[in-house]
Amino acid sequence: MSLLIDAIGELSTQHLTGEASPASGEGAGVLRDAAVVLEGERIAWVGPSAGAPAADERYDAQGRAVLPGWVDSHSHLVFAGDRTAEFEARMAGQAYAAGGIGVTTAATRAASDGELRRLLAARVAEAVAGGTTYLETKTGYGLEVGHEARSAALAAEAVDEVTYLGAHLVPAGADPEAYTDLVCGEMLDAVRPHVRWADVFCETGAFTEEQSRRVLTACRDAGLGLRVHGNQLGPGAGVRLAVEFGAASVDHVNFLDDEDVAALAGSWADWAGGAAGVPGTVATVLPACDLSTRAPLAPARRLLDAGVQVAIASNCNPGTSYTSSVSFCVTTAVLQMGLTVQEAVRAATFGGALALRRHVGADADGQRAVGSIAVGHRADLHLLDAPSATHLAYRPGMPLTHAVWRAGQQVR
Ligand code: NIG
Repeated sequence: MSLLIDAIGELSTQHLTGEASPASGEGAGVLRDAAVVLEGERIAWVGPSAGAPAADERYDAQGRAVLPGWVDSHSHLVFAGDRTAEFEARMAGQAYAAGGIGVTTAATRAASDGELRRLLAARVAEAVAGGTTYLETKTGYGLEVGHEARSAALAAEAVDEVTYLGAHLVPAGADPEAYTDLVCGEMLDAVRPHVRWADVFCETGAFTEEQSRRVLTACRDAGLGLRVHGNQLGPGAGVRLAVEFGAASVDHVNFLDDEDVAALAGSWADWAGGAAGVPGTVATVLPACDLSTRAPLAPARRLLDAGVQVAIASNCNPGTSYTSSVSFCVTTAVLQMGLTVQEAVRAATFGGALALRRHVGADADGQRAVGSIAVGHRADLHLLDAPSATHLAYRPGMPLTHAVWRAGQQVR
């Protein structure tokens, strides 16, 4: 079955062949009066509306804008419980601290499989309704072998990519060294069948540099790709460790010194650009989290200017960012972080795909590329009820998602 979507007013393909610079305004691959043909789960044709081939069915976009579906490369969706009171206290002046994770851990452990499955499905549905078509989520509210394994298994049923975050917090009463050993040993073995990635919260109040190094080493040796929560609450070793270990992404990055920025930029120095070569470490910024914790905004403009590849993600979680709206994050990145609209759209699509190493197709898992619109890529499209992507920032907060296709299926 094929579908022709034509009369697209503005098509942001984000397909940047041979493009090495992250200054993506020019290379965003924007086409006017364009069309796309979907065939099964893949994109079969992209070009001017006037030259589009026939297809089994037709969808008239009536001049609206089309983007790749959002690639949300950082979320924590497997949880139960409520932290409204903590949020209220923060808005009254209290600072965010890692310890709140323990509140969600208690509620998550107490929830049944059925309850967690239902909560997770509802959160995924919300994300999809907002234009997200590729979604990563993490464990990290189980913090005990059986509960981490359960979280990983439930996540694997519901999302595209699962990350092991046993190293989210040392649970109350546990010895930090003994818990780190557990994360690197028995717990890792238990989650391993369900996950592609491992992550560590390298921060004061969570895991030290030395403990983080142990976690990253064990998880790398177990064959997992690596990600790091780093430099969120203050300066620290997270970024340096991420680059040293060749992590796909370091996330948060609020507190960076010149050496951190140089290390991230250096990780991209040999990348040939576009789809070619092995990528470096993406800096993933989390605008909704920065607002919700009243943190200094991550320096996305400075990172792009230095040559770092940047992703934007929702960080949907009950503590620091209870939203899965990537559109809101893109709006904030434009209005508050100094990105152009196309830079922000790129960071939330192609950037997310880079951060998950899904920017090119047919890897060992036989997956199609996501995060950009090109022939052979997965047919993940986000149709806005607006003539251009600029409206995401020009009309902040408006519900602009009009239709969404995920792997060729219209899901909204
Ligand atoms: O990415 N920083 C660590 N983890 C989450 C917050 C988790 C929580 O507070 O429950 C984050 O912001």
